[in-house]
Amino acid sequence: MSYINPIKRVYLAIEAWFNLSFGSAWNPLYNLGTLAFFFFWVVLISGLYLFIFFDTSLSGAYASVEYMTHDQWYAAGVMRSLHRYASDAAIVTIMLHMFREFALDRYRGFRWFSWFTGVPTLWMVITLGITGYWLVWDELGLYVAMLSSQLVDALPFMNSAMARNFVGGQLTDRFFTLMAFLHLLGQPLFLVFAIWIHVKRLSFVEITAPIGLSMGSFIALLALSLAAPAVSHGPADMEKVTAVLNLDWFYLAVYPLLDYFTAGQTWMITLGITFFMMIMPWLPPKKTGHAAEVHLDHCNGCEQCADDCPFDAISVQARTDGARYENEVVVHPNLCAACGICVGSCPSSNPFRQKNEQLETGIDMPQFPINDIRERINKAVSELLGDTRIIVIGCDNALDFAGLESSDIKVLSLYCIGMMPPTIVEYALQKGVDGVLITGCRTGDCYYRYGNKWMDQRFDGSRRPILRGRADRDRIKVFRAAETDCKNLRSEVADFRKQLQKLNEAETSNQPGQAHE
Ligand code: HEM
Repeated sequence: MSYINPIKRVYLAIEAWFNLSFGSAWNPLYNLGTLAFFFFWVVLISGLYLFIFFDTSLSGAYASVEYMTHDQWYAAGVMRSLHRYASDAAIVTIMLHMFREFALDRYRGFRWFSWFTGVPTLWMVITLGITGYWLVWDELGLYVAMLSSQLVDALPFMNSAMARNFVGGQLTDRFFTLMAFLHLLGQPLFLVFAIWIHVKRLSFVEITAPIGLSMGSFIALLALSLAAPAVSHGPADMEKVTAVLNLDWFYLAVYPLLDYFTAGQTWMITLGITFFMMIMPWLPPKKTGHAAEVHLDHCNGCEQCADDCPFDAISVQARTDGARYENEVVVHPNLCAACGICVGSCPSSNPFRQKNEQLETGIDMPQFPINDIRERINKAVSELLGDTRIIVIGCDNALDFAGLESSDIKVLSLYCIGMMPPTIVEYALQKGVDGVLITGCRTGDCYYRYGNKWMDQRFDGSRRPILRGRADRDRIKVFRAAETDCKNLRSEVADFRKQLQKLNEAETSNQPGQAHE
């Protein structure tokens, strides 16, 4: 088995365990981005409710929050707790989302954009939480305000006025109202814009978590809010130094650094970490793939590849070659993930065409063209021996096929299982193999996002190009698993072999002259 780094190995084991408990559709680790959106909704709705009772003046803020927490504990109090805990849940989810992309090596190459824009987005969420704590204007709010001012004043273009104002007790109502405005409107708007940019290079972005997962998360938040309601510290008092504060480490982890470092050094540390994270996609080893290429002489402008591309790398334009079709497709190489899904989408990727000539299609991968795929199938068919001759068609990102090949098993690994035109399966069966075992990434976790899903839809006839009815479904098996699940692959192959043996026996006994033997 090829080397899998320990972080990935442990992470995949955890996800497998979650799959057992939740099923792949509801696995929270497959839904981290959508869960973050769900928690933002809870934060937004609870925040709007709190705004009704919140006094945005320096003198009235604390009392208004106390009123909500104690006098109206059953409504505004619960909303306050939901607001707090959903914010914490959002940041935990976002951090897990970030860790997942890192652990599964999904942040480099064509994914650099989502990663690069994710880092400042994370900071936006953190600063949104910081201004939220500030607004309560309790001892923690004062702590946040004082230390934030120290940090701001350490910037080269500031003149140390902010912290001095605090020490002199001159924080004005107007400044406080500005913070309220930032927290309630300015920062959320920027955040929405940042998230929009973050997912801009992806298509079919899911932003709604599965209903069961959303409801379960909400019930957990509500239970937590009732069991341990969010409360304030004592009121902010410039004269008093509070020794112990219940710090929210999810949002306020930077501030304790100021106990050990100067404000300038704290900036250097946080900016250094941020910078390092932003450049991570370009650190070695480098990942490159050659973009798909359009062959207009085989493209009828059906646009299926543009519809299927998970990375929005294919657009449609008016025909340029004078052919009778209205449109043609264009690949944008800088956006292309080189997953090959477009090859699987193209109706011209049909191995039955041009039987003895070079097979060409409308859109192809220059380093692994459709003709090579057909050639590999032909070669496998000619080499396979025995009664249960199986071709395994899989992808490079999931199961490791090392050692699987034998006299009756041949393997064809594609960039993504979505690269496989359904007619390839039909072709292999028609050429005489006994069965085709198709593998792919774990259900709900395709490395190229939509390869598994498109394949399923092509097979059930709801997405073009479809797997035709004449392909014997009993001789096709689909098995989805991660790199670490090789043992299961062997048992799947063994089961498939038995299934094929039975089918072969049944067919033999059904042949004329054999039926009553
Ligand atoms: C406000 C916080 C964030 C939200 C709501 C969010 C949400 C999302 C969503 C919905 C997707 C698309 C997933 C899909 O449909 O396949 C995505 C992709 C991605 N995110 Fe985030 N994200 C956030 C922060 C971050 C951060 C902090 C990072 C890392 C620094 C990050 C890295 C990525 C990467 C690399 C992808 C691409 C995944 C792929 O191509 O399969 N995200 N994000």
